Amino acid sequence: MTRSTLTVDVFLTAAQLRSALEDDVRHGLTTRPKSIPPLWFYDENGSRLFEDITRLPEYYPTRAERRMLIEHAGEIARLAEADTLVELGAGACDKTRLLLDAMRSSGPLNRYIPFDVSDEFLREAAAGLLDEYEGLSVHAVVGDFRQHLNQVPVDGRRLVAFLGGTIGNLVPLDRQRFLFDLNCTMGQQDHLLLGVDLVKDRDTIVAAYDDSAGVTAAFNRNVLSVINNELGANFDPDAFDHVALWNEDDRWIEMRLRSTSDQEVRVAELDLDVRFEKGEDLLTEISAKFDPTQLENELLGSDFVVDAMWGADDGEFLLALAHPYC
Ligand code: AVJ
Repeated sequence: MTRSTLTVDVFLTAAQLRSALEDDVRHGLTTRPKSIPPLWFYDENGSRLFEDITRLPEYYPTRAERRMLIEHAGEIARLAEADTLVELGAGACDKTRLLLDAMRSSGPLNRYIPFDVSDEFLREAAAGLLDEYEGLSVHAVVGDFRQHLNQVPVDGRRLVAFLGGTIGNLVPLDRQRFLFDLNCTMGQQDHLLLGVDLVKDRDTIVAAYDDSAGVTAAFNRNVLSVINNELGANFDPDAFDHVALWNEDDRWIEMRLRSTSDQEVRVAELDLDVRFEKGEDLLTEISAKFDPTQLENELLGSDFVVDAMWGADDGEFLLALAHPYC
């Protein structure tokens, strides 16, 4: 029996993560409109709340994508002919098994490279896979996909998966830059598997981000607890309403936290006092929705050729397989 191995490369240390949070909070709370990048939702509690979101009746994307992977993983594996799976934003690695199994059935499977910002989460999830896949080398990379893409090991024929619709967290310009940067790190034999949520009727989308059980509201407010815990702030999460707004022009959902009163918040470790007016919003996330033609154009615009798309004909969710153009 060939032994499985686990390597972990950390490009984002706890100290770097903290100084990035400091910068984002200082900048985000002192510019207007106030905002905080969605990356900071995911401490341990936030990651657990997100797992809860994926099981909500209103939150369709995870189930839709999972169904598609169950149906099409075999074809994806055959088209990509990869021996290495790279997963950006791997999180709990739960969709990973579907891809790993399909790859193992269609050819040699050598390596799994999960990439995420969360060190503990990644180690745990990666370690869980070792026993299941004999001979698999797992090479986890702790980093920020906006900064450390070029640290992902390049050998083997790679399938780079970026699933869940997470690319929708980026505004179009950042998305383009991200895809282009990613393209630059990929070889001609490599493939990209991208999962994005599709534009659909407004009520379905809004309900997915404003569920009746209030789990998304708790997830949204959790970012305030993260700032309290990490930077000694005194946010009262209950003094902010959860708001999910469909932005028709930009075709993205906006999650905001709306101050229910005139209030002042102190961020002790930044020596920063911030005033919120009653009704003022803190933007915490955008989640862009796509149509198939738009996605194909964006991929082309960053030098990717689309090999196949699934879900393009009135599906709920879209999977696209692409490879670098030159
Ligand atoms: C993990 C970024 C794909 O945008 O749907 C879920 C995060 N936010 N509910 C999404 C999220 C509110 C999710 N992504």
